[in-house]
Amino acid sequence: MEIIHVSAECYPVAKAGGLGDIVGALPKYQNELGHVAKVVMPMYKTKFLLDNVWDVVHKGRTNIGDYWFDYTIIKEQTNKLGFDLYLVDINGLLDREKVYGYDDDTERFTAFQVAVVDWIAVWAHHPDVIHVHDHHTGLIPFIIKHCYKYQHLHKIPTVLTIHNAQYQGTMGWDRSFLLPPWDSWKWGMLDWKNNINPLASGIKCAWKVTTVSMSYLDELRQSANGLEALFEYERGKCMGILNGIDTEVWDPQKDTYLQEHFSVETVTEGKANSKRRLCETFDLDFNKPLIVFIGRLVGEKGADILPAAISDSYYYIGRKMNFLILGSGFPDVETQLASLQKLAQKDYSVYIGYNESLSHLMYAGADFLLMPSRVEPCGLNQMYAMRYGTIPMVRRTGGLKDTVIDYGEKNGYGIVYNWASVGDITHGIWRAVDLFEDKEKIMEIREKMMRLDFSWQHSVQQYLNLYEGLLPEKEAVPEAESKPDKK
Ligand code: ADP
Ligand code: GLC
Repeated sequence: MEIIHVSAECYPVAKAGGLGDIVGALPKYQNELGHVAKVVMPMYKTKFLLDNVWDVVHKGRTNIGDYWFDYTIIKEQTNKLGFDLYLVDINGLLDREKVYGYDDDTERFTAFQVAVVDWIAVWAHHPDVIHVHDHHTGLIPFIIKHCYKYQHLHKIPTVLTIHNAQYQGTMGWDRSFLLPPWDSWKWGMLDWKNNINPLASGIKCAWKVTTVSMSYLDELRQSANGLEALFEYERGKCMGILNGIDTEVWDPQKDTYLQEHFSVETVTEGKANSKRRLCETFDLDFNKPLIVFIGRLVGEKGADILPAAISDSYYYIGRKMNFLILGSGFPDVETQLASLQKLAQKDYSVYIGYNESLSHLMYAGADFLLMPSRVEPCGLNQMYAMRYGTIPMVRRTGGLKDTVIDYGEKNGYGIVYNWASVGDITHGIWRAVDLFEDKEKIMEIREKMMRLDFSWQHSVQQYLNLYEGLLPEKEAVPEAESKPDKK
């Protein structure tokens, strides 16, 4: 099968979060099974762009409304990521340093989607599946089905994967002119609550919709930032497929970001080396349990209640643990976390910003990883942590619920609590401090976690089965013709 993934992020080209990790891994594993999976994404001004060599494969010209633009499709020459990687260059719109966060993101991602379809429209053949990811590419199924210029593509099956339904790309109807001329009878396929909603449109128009864990799909029917009724209505075409992790990138035995490597057999010593490095760098106490948080400092991740949970823990439990926080996000949360440094002095440190290499060292050196998420469609951090023998402390929601079992339950290994509240987090921290005293139990849990299989193997197959079901029925070949000649 030929599968075209269209996405705003792809690791290591450009990554803002887990979406990048997934689109950087899933196609690679699909190719390993003999399929041809390709990735198409915007050409941002990133280090990866400058460090690699590119071929121009197509030049085109199209428009969003009365803004006409030239676009160029370039392809990485060596296939070093394990799949064909295509970047869409739109001068002045996409060639910026950050992925998101500009005032004209609506125009940027609409132009990107139109250019992708405009390019596929001139191919001599049709790909078997177009697989789009999140709202930034959610208009593609509509464009293919209902924009006159591209209707010859309408038989190409489309799959939408929802990594995060909180963000929907909503725009007013006054922006409808940005789309290529479309069948106005189909306005309902763009609309949700009197706005154009690219995520809702993707759910309505894609042939199949997946979410990145099973529990998240269930939760979306109750809580989906306004799309609950749509998820209920379209439940027949939705399914949950749990993300895998790229076990080649995230491997404590050969992680290129780590100086000391370790396996299940050498986990105690291996983690101690990385922890020592972290403690020296951030002035932490090696003998106390090290609890870390890595992620976007936003409400979804429960980051806003971290400062209160940390100061309550010092107050109620005592100064028995270290905290190390890595992240960036809401300025208020950043400021509060930074000012905690004064209160905590020695057992606490924070790094505001994005640092891939530090994140790897933290997964390797931490004793516990805190994830008090309010919403977590899948969550990759907890799976990375477990692969590096770090015990996850997670709220029972979405993908966290599907991947972590509390150590108090049969076959359990993590610390799980019900609410993203200061009280529940503090109680979880108390349990972690208590568990840390029991070295034998810690050892047993680390070994158990490191042997869990979170690889892509199972999920890749689920995606392939899903695509298979969308392909046109193959015409039956008469039996005599289908058998090889026997002489
Ligand atoms: P989300 O995509 O919602 O942010 P995920 O758990 O799926 O959450 O993925 C987060 C990814 O981003 C992980 O690879 C994590 O290590 C990484 N990450 C998040 N914040 C940072 C940061 N400040 N520095 C380095 N890596 C980060
Ligand atoms: C989103 C979700 C996260 C998920 C990631 C990859 O960013 O917030 O939970 O792991 O996508 O699918």
